[in-house]
Amino acid sequence: MHAREIKKGIEAVCCVHWERRLFDSLIPLPDGTSYNAYLVRGENATALIDTADPVLSADLMGPLQGVEKLDYVVSQHSEQDHAGLLPDVLERFPSAKLLCSEKARDMLTSHLHIAEERIRVVKDGESISLGGKTLTFVYTPWVHWPETMCTYVPEDKCLFSCDFFGSHLASSDLFVTDQALVYEAAKRYYAEIMMPFRTIIAKNIEKLSAFDFDMIAPSHGPVYDQPNFILEAYKDWISPKMKNEVVLPYISMHGSTEIMVKHLIDALAARGVTVHAFDLAVTDIGKLAMALVDAATLIVGTPTVHVGSHPAVYYASHLANLLKPKVKYAAIVGSYGWSSKAIEQISGLIPNLKVEVLGAVLQKGLPDAAAFKQLDELATAVAAKHQENPEVTTK
Ligand code: FEO
Repeated sequence: MHAREIKKGIEAVCCVHWERRLFDSLIPLPDGTSYNAYLVRGENATALIDTADPVLSADLMGPLQGVEKLDYVVSQHSEQDHAGLLPDVLERFPSAKLLCSEKARDMLTSHLHIAEERIRVVKDGESISLGGKTLTFVYTPWVHWPETMCTYVPEDKCLFSCDFFGSHLASSDLFVTDQALVYEAAKRYYAEIMMPFRTIIAKNIEKLSAFDFDMIAPSHGPVYDQPNFILEAYKDWISPKMKNEVVLPYISMHGSTEIMVKHLIDALAARGVTVHAFDLAVTDIGKLAMALVDAATLIVGTPTVHVGSHPAVYYASHLANLLKPKVKYAAIVGSYGWSSKAIEQISGLIPNLKVEVLGAVLQKGLPDAAAFKQLDELATAVAAKHQENPEVTTK
């Protein structure tokens, strides 16, 4: 794709990865993704902000063929989808200096074998003039690595944010044209990448509020020419407020756990609680992560395999623990053949979740009237906890 102007003298080189369906061999990408680099042309110097994934080398290096001289390359984040083409860019522009944060220096030399003498560390708040355009570097750690920073161009009120505020979305549109579509992609991205760091994200958003910008140019997905849209979304996702919702990942082998889960969904719905249920045999794990952004309660439904929880449940529980959602309550339901240690096992898998356990309903074989009564009682307990917690919005 050709370089396209987002502000006078600032061009986006959007390397669109239409066909990519998995990131980090882990994260589903139903809508592909993009890696955006930005050319900032001053009167005296030109800078490139970030690069792209090496898989799309031609998409970045092609548009750069027309650039006579590059004075600076800014690396806002050392992960390979943005830094992977730094060696190629530095080879193509041998006099360019690589600018990065203090923590990024070691990462770029060890991950990409970049020569130390090509690197110049910039301090938090430091500015470099390109002539009529200034690059001001703002350290924003842990979005989502420790070395991450943003770049602000005051003359154009433009903030470059790399992963921060990004969305995994392949699009031919330069700017956001469909807010609902981008909201979904950005929320998925936040859930999978950013959610564990929401406390420090709040501090970073507060820090960025000191800068007057009317555009956010991320390195994934379309550019925000109405940045309030994504800022407000982030503020909602990181707030302590939760929704009157249960996330219920489950799997069933011979149907008993499924019967219990379906009964519980019905019982919760009857008590005004919204349930997001995910059959782990077929679910998109990204959808599960997104549901965890807002929910107040996590309930795991598992059958028993060799006395333990089903491996798919083990995986989902481990993932939920890594993502550190703001859930406050948890429970376990399921069925077993002759014996089960699923409760102890799942409890041990989620130490990061500071939850109050509201109960466990484990049934030997097919659920009976007593099991259904226990599930009804669990639903009552969940609804009551949601009602009494001021941070849960029940309307
Ligand atoms: Fe888009 Fe953390 O890399």
